Amino acid sequence: MREVITRDVEHVSRVLLNGGIAGIPTETVYGLAADALNQDAVLRVFQVKGRPTHHPLIIHLHATEDMERWGVFNAHARSLCDAFCPGPFTLLVPRTPLVPDWVTGGRNSVAIRFPSHQTAQDLLENVGTGLVAPSANKFGQVSPTTAQHVLQDLGEEVDIILDGGSCEIGVESTIVECINESVQVLRPGAVTSSQIAEHLQLPVQLTTGESRAPGMMLAHYAPKAKVVLVETAEEAENQIAVLRDAGHAVTMLFFPDTQQYAINLYDALRNADLLGVAYIVALLPEPSGLGIAIRDRLSKAAATY
Ligand code: TXA
Ligand code: MG
Repeated sequence: MREVITRDVEHVSRVLLNGGIAGIPTETVYGLAADALNQDAVLRVFQVKGRPTHHPLIIHLHATEDMERWGVFNAHARSLCDAFCPGPFTLLVPRTPLVPDWVTGGRNSVAIRFPSHQTAQDLLENVGTGLVAPSANKFGQVSPTTAQHVLQDLGEEVDIILDGGSCEIGVESTIVECINESVQVLRPGAVTSSQIAEHLQLPVQLTTGESRAPGMMLAHYAPKAKVVLVETAEEAENQIAVLRDAGHAVTMLFFPDTQQYAINLYDALRNADLLGVAYIVALLPEPSGLGIAIRDRLSKAAATY
């Protein structure tokens, strides 16, 4: 059998520059990467994920010197970039003519991110161009946080998977729209709305929704098991008892430390499916800091439409 998982950055960059697609590590989740300017390669990413082609992709770049080639950054965007990049942070800004329609789904804006993961940075430096990278899972399913997860989900459909260990954050980047003078968070992540508001000294809204960022529909990040959300440990115990009495296999999901919760979230959802349980009772973290992103992902994992 061919070796799909590698640690050889130069090899993976050659695969990408030759029009291949690769699973790549970032600090948030693993991405399915392709050369942003290669239409056939980007179309293969959509096809392998099973994702509609009008759902726009994030362009990943090595260094901020390059960013003006791809996007138009106003004062707020530049200031946020200085404060939070590289890191788990994506800026949505007007695009330049360089950015192709096949990346943005025809939209006039482009999402740009500078990962802080060392292996991702080495790869981006080596390829010397922008890489699109949606999460490396099948459309609507649980995101991958290890190279093995990518192999389980996409297997022989990817050309190569670059192994950079387990992702140190575990949930996708914060997406912030900086178009005109308003600043809006479209997807919560490790960089929080309050950090952004404090940095800019501005009110910042959290406005997620399908129309703003296609692909943010309710059901997403979903395991096969049904996810039941509870707010207290007592409620969790009651739910588990009721479900077990009815003859269902149930597992509970909770980590008292929110960072550990984020790191282990997707792996725990995947493990529940490997065990074949019918229900996951998830005790929600407090709605502050990283807890907001975890609640967002869990509510989508629990949605059935
Ligand atoms: O942490 C992350 O951001 C990961 C890693 C691999 O970098 N990537 C990721 O990509 O989560 P993806 O494709 O699964 O999610 C990107 C989201 C999509 O839901 C899409 O709606 C939004 O970004 N997006 C990208 N470009 C956009 C645009 N021009 N306008 C509105 N939304 C956009
Ligand atoms: Mg995704």
